Amino acid sequence: MSEVVQSKHGQWSSRWVFVLAAAGSAVGLGNIWKFPYITGENGGGAFVLVYLLCIAAIGVPIMIGEVFLGKLGRQSPINTMMNLSRRFGRTTSWAGVGWLGVITGILILCFYAVVAGWVLAYVFRLASGEFVGTTAEYSSNAFGEFVSDPALGVLWFTLFMIPTVVIVARGVNRGLEVAVRWLMPLLLGILLLLLAYGIFSGGFIQSVYFLFDFDWSLISGKSVIQAMGHAFFTLSLGMGAIMAYGAYVPEDIPVRTAVITISVLDTVVALVAGLAIFSIVFAHGMEPSAGPGLLFEVTPVAFGALPLGTLFGTLFFLLVTFAAFTSAISIIEPAVAYFVERLNRSRVLVASVIGGICWVIGLASVFSFNIMSGFHVVGELTVFDTFDKLTQYFLLPMGGFLIAIFVGWLVPRSTISESIGLTEDWQIWAWRGLIGVLAPIGVIVVFAYELRQLFS
Ligand code: TRP
Repeated sequence: MSEVVQSKHGQWSSRWVFVLAAAGSAVGLGNIWKFPYITGENGGGAFVLVYLLCIAAIGVPIMIGEVFLGKLGRQSPINTMMNLSRRFGRTTSWAGVGWLGVITGILILCFYAVVAGWVLAYVFRLASGEFVGTTAEYSSNAFGEFVSDPALGVLWFTLFMIPTVVIVARGVNRGLEVAVRWLMPLLLGILLLLLAYGIFSGGFIQSVYFLFDFDWSLISGKSVIQAMGHAFFTLSLGMGAIMAYGAYVPEDIPVRTAVITISVLDTVVALVAGLAIFSIVFAHGMEPSAGPGLLFEVTPVAFGALPLGTLFGTLFFLLVTFAAFTSAISIIEPAVAYFVERLNRSRVLVASVIGGICWVIGLASVFSFNIMSGFHVVGELTVFDTFDKLTQYFLLPMGGFLIAIFVGWLVPRSTISESIGLTEDWQIWAWRGLIGVLAPIGVIVVFAYELRQLFS
């Protein structure tokens, strides 16, 4: 069959736009909301080191693999996997990887958009000056009261979902590309301002120690699992988001360099956000292990205490909202692209239907903090926790594992070199070793550990 060189959904107008879009997907609540709080819960430095190792040894090779597959297939992940497996004489069951990704994406958006809705609400709360001169106790209560109101939860969740669907409905060039071109540079700018703020807050040195001083006694099997799951989550890997974006890259893109740039950007944003947030935490004698509420309970206090805090606090939550938009769009793009291809319907229709489905399922996760807080799916996990944990610790590593096996073992070597800019023999060996051997072993070891925990 002939090779498809351009996707029917369009193409990024330059390499840089691809880097921005993929970085936009990667940089999100994972970096600014999740990374600081799970680092806090896992005791800091040693966890950060394991996380960095996972990014470099597993994340980067798999991201190269996803972009490579997307670029080769030029369709939605489901159809890309279907056609490539045919082309390489493998079973078309590999399309299942794409389906797994579509389901994982829907589940992720169902908790992601809820948190993003809180962030959006906080833009307005900070702008109102509510937190000026406030205490840590006030802001914790304020957050608790806010999430326990089901109507407010639904309102903000809906207000986040609508623009997400609109951007995706407008398509690759008029939607996704326009969004990332404007939002990404703004985001990086505001983040630097926040760092400067953190440096002058008085807790900066302590925060540097917290993030970079290793205390191995704090590391457990569970932290390693969290670090690996988070590496997948933060780089948007394992569900085809990056594969979908890879289908829109220009033919001559240097994949390896682009992926390294994206991963470095993502890591820098997480570390800078961590430094800034922990500086504030320590300057105000707060707890680094406050959990998912960390961002919402800690930052308003700091902004409330600092000069121009209302302005910078508003800007900060605006930044997080932008980061969440550029990620959320990539979470449903694989599903939207697939149904547009399959049903030959307009993007507007498909995006609205998929958005609607996510909205309905997502309600259960809004209600996990109020009217359904007593409902547990398994053990102590509410619907929200279940979506979060199931995707991060199971579905994403699973998808990543399958992608790694496919690229590492089943794709003929001859298709690799020209496609991703690995020209030297040793580079191909190294990459195939990482993606074909190390990454799958890593995932299996972690799963084995999880199972042991489950049955012990
Ligand atoms: N990486 C994003 C973040 O850190 C979230 C995200 C976007 C994502 N697309 C994804 C996570 C695909 C997993 C899979 O916020």
